Amino acid sequence: MQWEELYKERLTTAQKAVTHIKSGDRVVVGHASGSPEVVLKAMVENKDAYENVEIVHMVAMGPSEYCLPENSAHFVHNSLFAGGTSRKAIHEGRACFTASHFSQIPRLFTEKILPVDVTLCMVSTPDEHGYCSFGISVDYTKPAAESSKIVIAEVTPHMPRTLGDAFIHVSKIDHIIECDSKPIVLNPPKISETDEKIGGYSAELIEDGACLQLGIGAVPDSILGFLKDKKDLGIHTEMFSDGVVDLVNEGVITCGRKNFHTNKMVATFFMGTEKLYRFVHNNPIVEMFTVDYTNNPAIIARNDKMVSVNSTLQIDLTGQACSESIGHKQFSGTGGQADFIRGAAWSKGGRSILAFHSTAAKGTLSRIVPCLDEGAIVTTTRTDIHFVVTEYGIADLRGKSVPQRAKELINIAHPDFRADLKKDFARIYNQ
Ligand code: COA
Repeated sequence: MQWEELYKERLTTAQKAVTHIKSGDRVVVGHASGSPEVVLKAMVENKDAYENVEIVHMVAMGPSEYCLPENSAHFVHNSLFAGGTSRKAIHEGRACFTASHFSQIPRLFTEKILPVDVTLCMVSTPDEHGYCSFGISVDYTKPAAESSKIVIAEVTPHMPRTLGDAFIHVSKIDHIIECDSKPIVLNPPKISETDEKIGGYSAELIEDGACLQLGIGAVPDSILGFLKDKKDLGIHTEMFSDGVVDLVNEGVITCGRKNFHTNKMVATFFMGTEKLYRFVHNNPIVEMFTVDYTNNPAIIARNDKMVSVNSTLQIDLTGQACSESIGHKQFSGTGGQADFIRGAAWSKGGRSILAFHSTAAKGTLSRIVPCLDEGAIVTTTRTDIHFVVTEYGIADLRGKSVPQRAKELINIAHPDFRADLKKDFARIYNQ
């Protein structure tokens, strides 16, 4: 049968498609800005037909109504990364959290550690060969769909057609919902004076020809503003946002000096505005892969001069960094932080940066501490850490002894906390 006929045969409505979800099913939802909100809404409206449907999702950008208390008899949320809408549900015991490196999530599905019954996703309209692109959410969404019993997809002209290993054939989609839905937009964050200082210091560590991974948020975005005079930067990342587009247009990011995927920006998902989504549409410089490829430390390390930039919540004086919890409370997730820090460590000339404000809670708490809070989760071990940056400067921890590390970190702590940090260090470590 021609794919066009198959496509017509599988066209349905969101309301009909969700009747194929059964009680006890495990449902994986397309990641981040690629979340299929029309189908999710129909699924929640059909809640009386379900008991104990497990919703597996990573960064949830939509309203996540399946997490609300009134829906807890029908859905249980298994979060791979706590966020604005799922954090409360996890803290209140209505949702659970599963820890995983981002790079390993596809294997949870493909190796049936978490067998997938249904994948809900959003894809682009099919091309002339019948292939739809996973667009801005290839990451774990594609492997989940490939190992799922049933695939339900929103097909929308607003999903960019990204290139690379980003496609699914119409014959592999069981229920097709044509709609006009748009990928969720993430507006650029406001950049403060403190972010600017951190951006300036971090940019000092980025040389011409470096290959970058930049996380999300004000700190990574602030660095972009300091890269305008750099030459021939490359990108191998899990995601990038709007700021990167300007650097491509200004000729700063060329990927021309990359020794691996030369002339290509490699990524696995995107979160940004229309500007970013237009940029990645059909753009041959942008090459998408599933996250088990982009975030595999051995693949990352094949790029020389790899620089990873991420953030953290708390770091102790030996260099253990907690980037995902505040004490026992899950705040976010491991994501790709450890993947990229390890990849950068193995890259020839590579370096990793953890950049963050020196204080939290309106300046009342130091984020550099003698010991991590009780319950704090170590996302980046002290054996993996390299550069640490705050608004007070740069600490280089690789190859340093514990007392040397403590000295470096105290030097970039907020001045109000330095004396106490010195005293605590002397008391704990007999120095
Ligand atoms: N104790 C108490 N509260 C703290 C704290 C601490 N040690 N550190 C931060 N906070 C508070 C902040 O004050 C802020 O609160 P506010 O919103 O009320 O001001 C909040 O926690 C968030 O801190 P902030 O530094 O603004 O977080 P962020 O949005 O920049 O995100 C991480 C930082 C570390 C949570 C985020 O980068 C992350 O999840 N990283 C792990 C995953 C990763 O690195 N993935 C790869 C890149 S995509």
